[in-house]
Amino acid sequence: MSKVANLKLADAGKLRIEWAESRMPVLMALRERAKKTQPLRGMRVAGCLHVTKETAVLVRTLRAAGAEVSWSGCNPLSTQDDVAAALAAEDTSIFAWHGMSKDDFYWCIEETLKFSPTLTLDDGADLIFTVHAKHQELAKGVLGGTEETTTGVHRLRAMAHDGKLLYPVIAVNDSETKWDFDNVYGTGQSSIDGILRATSVLLAGKTFVVAGYGHCGRGVASRARGLGANVVVTEISPTQALKATLEGFRVMKMDEAARIGDIFITATGMKDVIVERHFAVMKDGAVICNTGHYDCELNLVELEAMSKGKREVRANNEEYTLKNGHRIYVLAQGRLVNLAAAEGHPSEVMDMSFANQFQGLCKLAKEGKSMKPGVYELPKEQDVEIARLKLETSGIAIDALTPEQVKYATDYSAGT
Ligand SMILES: NC(=O)c1ccc[n+]([C@@H]2O[C@H](COP(=O)([O-])OP(=O)(O)OC[C@H]3O[C@@H](n4cnc5c(N)ncnc54)[C@H](O)[C@@H]3O)[C@@H](O)[C@H]2O)c1
Repeated sequence: MSKVANLKLADAGKLRIEWAESRMPVLMALRERAKKTQPLRGMRVAGCLHVTKETAVLVRTLRAAGAEVSWSGCNPLSTQDDVAAALAAEDTSIFAWHGMSKDDFYWCIEETLKFSPTLTLDDGADLIFTVHAKHQELAKGVLGGTEETTTGVHRLRAMAHDGKLLYPVIAVNDSETKWDFDNVYGTGQSSIDGILRATSVLLAGKTFVVAGYGHCGRGVASRARGLGANVVVTEISPTQALKATLEGFRVMKMDEAARIGDIFITATGMKDVIVERHFAVMKDGAVICNTGHYDCELNLVELEAMSKGKREVRANNEEYTLKNGHRIYVLAQGRLVNLAAAEGHPSEVMDMSFANQFQGLCKLAKEGKSMKPGVYELPKEQDVEIARLKLETSGIAIDALTPEQVKYATDYSAGT
């Protein structure tokens, strides 16, 4: 069973998936191994994660490892329709199309739950939250789940804290080979890609405001600087603000940044980062967008109320004309600009994220029954193994400690 936009796009989608496969050697190596060992045999995996070419590589890997899969997208604007069609054409149960309504979004999740999953895979925790809020009877049959992103992990930790989480969940986001690479370099490059596709503006010389200097913000700020923008950072954390300052970025409050910025991007996971009082002082022509998980970082309800008109001027680019005559350009309706206006992260970086996802599900298939409900991190050794494989497949060799160095590392008597 599936529902996608247009099955005729399957051939184009298949080509895109093959391109991603050629750039994801770690996940492909895990797939080859799993074809023989079948670690997910008998598992039913319900997934809710952006339907991109890289996700398709993960889905194919889960199936090759013996799992039955049912999938939905985790954002109404991020599904690549040709990829969804290709997956449907190879008999994957998939419910996803670009531009769906909020009702459709939850309908798709409901459809993926109909085969009573034994494992869940989330990006943002909407699937797992649906299980907990509406289908608690299914939770008994679930061995565990995985969560892909920072915001989803926050939601799950809050559920666990309140004693509401019914099964174990692995915070894939928190693995070093995910958080320090996907969020930083993936979001850094793909968010700039989204901004350029939606605007085609010159970044050199522009004042580029990044709200949030965490993993994603750090990546975006460094890539914008690389293209010649004057980057300004806003933060609420003293330590993150200090890191940005010592990295050479100007740090200030959003109230001040709003007056001088040409392009704004939010990367905080927090609501109402840019609101009415900020829109009111922005320059004519300011561009605003978001790369945090949910579309609540820019308060577009307030922007709409301040505007006398709105029109689409390019794909993923809407011009709001304020009552004061200024025009503000909103990209991708305030949803993740890198996935809605571009293609999401490059395959090379998703290789590591999805290797973590795959290993997480295999661990839960094996050990989930004996794990208590709660949020878990993947073992450090797995990070090392994924990083090692990534280096190897990239043709990069590194040194190893000599026996004398190993001894030295634990020798507290050696000093000056
Ligand atoms: N676009 C993508 O493809 C993508 C990829 C990974 C993560 N994400 C999402 O991006 C968001 C950020 O993730 P992260 O891993 O960088 O998280 P993080 O915790 O590393 O960083 C978030 C930063 O935002 C700051 N912050 C919070 N509220 C703020 C505010 N009001 N003003 C300014 N700064 C504020 C925090 O202090 C923190 O430094 C999350 O929603 C995450 O799910 C998106």
